Amino acid sequence: MHDNIAAARMRPESTMTETALVKLGGSVITWKDRVTTFSRKGTDALSGEISRYLGASPGRRVVVVHGGGSFGHVKAKRYSLSEGMRDSSQVPGFAEVRNDMRKLNLMVVTSLLGRGVSAVSIPAEGILGVSGAHVSSEDFSLVDMALEKNFVPVTFGDAVFDAALGFTILSGDKLMLALSRHLHPDVSVFCTDVDGVFDSNPAVDREAHLIRHLTPSSTISTSSSSRADVTGEMAGKLAVLFEIGRNSGRTAVINGRVKGRLLSALSGRTTVGTEVLP
Ligand code: IPE
Repeated sequence: MHDNIAAARMRPESTMTETALVKLGGSVITWKDRVTTFSRKGTDALSGEISRYLGASPGRRVVVVHGGGSFGHVKAKRYSLSEGMRDSSQVPGFAEVRNDMRKLNLMVVTSLLGRGVSAVSIPAEGILGVSGAHVSSEDFSLVDMALEKNFVPVTFGDAVFDAALGFTILSGDKLMLALSRHLHPDVSVFCTDVDGVFDSNPAVDREAHLIRHLTPSSTISTSSSSRADVTGEMAGKLAVLFEIGRNSGRTAVINGRVKGRLLSALSGRTTVGTEVLP
């Protein structure tokens, strides 16, 4: 017992860090149904909570990944960007989405800076290489360098070049997965616009219940949706969530539009949300 305490006290500074990985979902930082519309108030509130988390204890490090929301998905779909480059009609769409995502990233980083967080933008292509819509190479040196110097790296889902397809869409969730494998964070939090993971789709099923503790044996019904691809899509999302859960000390999915929940989830306090127990 005493030996453990002494060992803890003697641990060098570098091992006393606590690392948090935060996904700011596009549904929280943008208004999903209004193309290229930033949710400034919501983002500022989340920036404030990240700032308070960092300020509460020395040694805390945060990596932020944000999604695209209405800055990414609307035009990515219109120009079928995730399927790769098929013809020249997609070219303006690719350029526009990249431009829109940089505008969104600038606003997210500016919001964090405004709350005293030393955020630095690192585009996805500075971390991951993509081929055939799969991650083909990883380089975490920029993220590591930024963290060593106490910056908060901010990366984001993006329209990216693809060695086999010409271009594609790289999601923020793929970045979360790669970063969780590399960093083994103490805590990973996904901020969405619903309270967490439900046992069926809350948008169409009034009886949907929030799953407080998500395990691989949790049952999630997709029968309320007529779309055939939903099961596969959901299964894929859950597989990613469980792997991130295995790579992280704690993993939670919370409603980033409700004040205080991100800070509680980061700090390990009980809050409304889904805890992922892989
Ligand atoms: C999507 O990233 C990026 C683009 C469409 C360019 P995500 O898939 O992580 O975004 P959200 O969080 O679902 O909006």
